[in-house]
Amino acid sequence: MSSTLSLEFAHAVVYVVDMEKILDFYTRVLGFEVTDRGPLGEREIVFLSQTADHHHQIAFVDSRNEAGRSNSVDHLAFRSSGSLAALRALHDALQAEPEVSGIRPLTHGNAWSVYFRDPEGNGIEVFIDTPWHVQQPQGKPLDFSMDDDALLAWTKEAFEADGAELSPLGEFYAARGEHLAQRSD
Ligand SMILES: [Fe+2]
Repeated sequence: MSSTLSLEFAHAVVYVVDMEKILDFYTRVLGFEVTDRGPLGEREIVFLSQTADHHHQIAFVDSRNEAGRSNSVDHLAFRSSGSLAALRALHDALQAEPEVSGIRPLTHGNAWSVYFRDPEGNGIEVFIDTPWHVQQPQGKPLDFSMDDDALLAWTKEAFEADGAELSPLGEFYAARGEHLAQRSD
């Protein structure tokens, strides 16, 4: 029998080399706040969050010897309810960070995303929802030189041109909600 616990993803703990460099980036550029920090054996753990209901969304432990990609995690993704203009501004801010690499704006049809590697090479995605559900996986490079209205229109047209079916995102999540409610009966 499967668990009757409903699971919500809550946080990731990431090993880092240079704690202060990572904290500077996640607080100054991505807007996280340090919610706690303290010793973990001979190391230090620092907790960060920017939501009202998660003590931490990410935590760092200074126990890594060498920066680089994880061999088992491609990226961590953070969803924002912010605007396309704010996502574009983040994209510009990332480009001003010399230690950020691999900045890649992308749309999956159901999301507008900016992928990048943080100053130690960890894969990060920041995304906002589009108004649509689109079957996954798929993605197209996103051109931030377009204004918001043009991006909205282009996104719909580009995925429809590929034969994708776009449906209202709210309907998709409402159906998921109904399904999950039945599961917990
Ligand atoms: Fe992703």
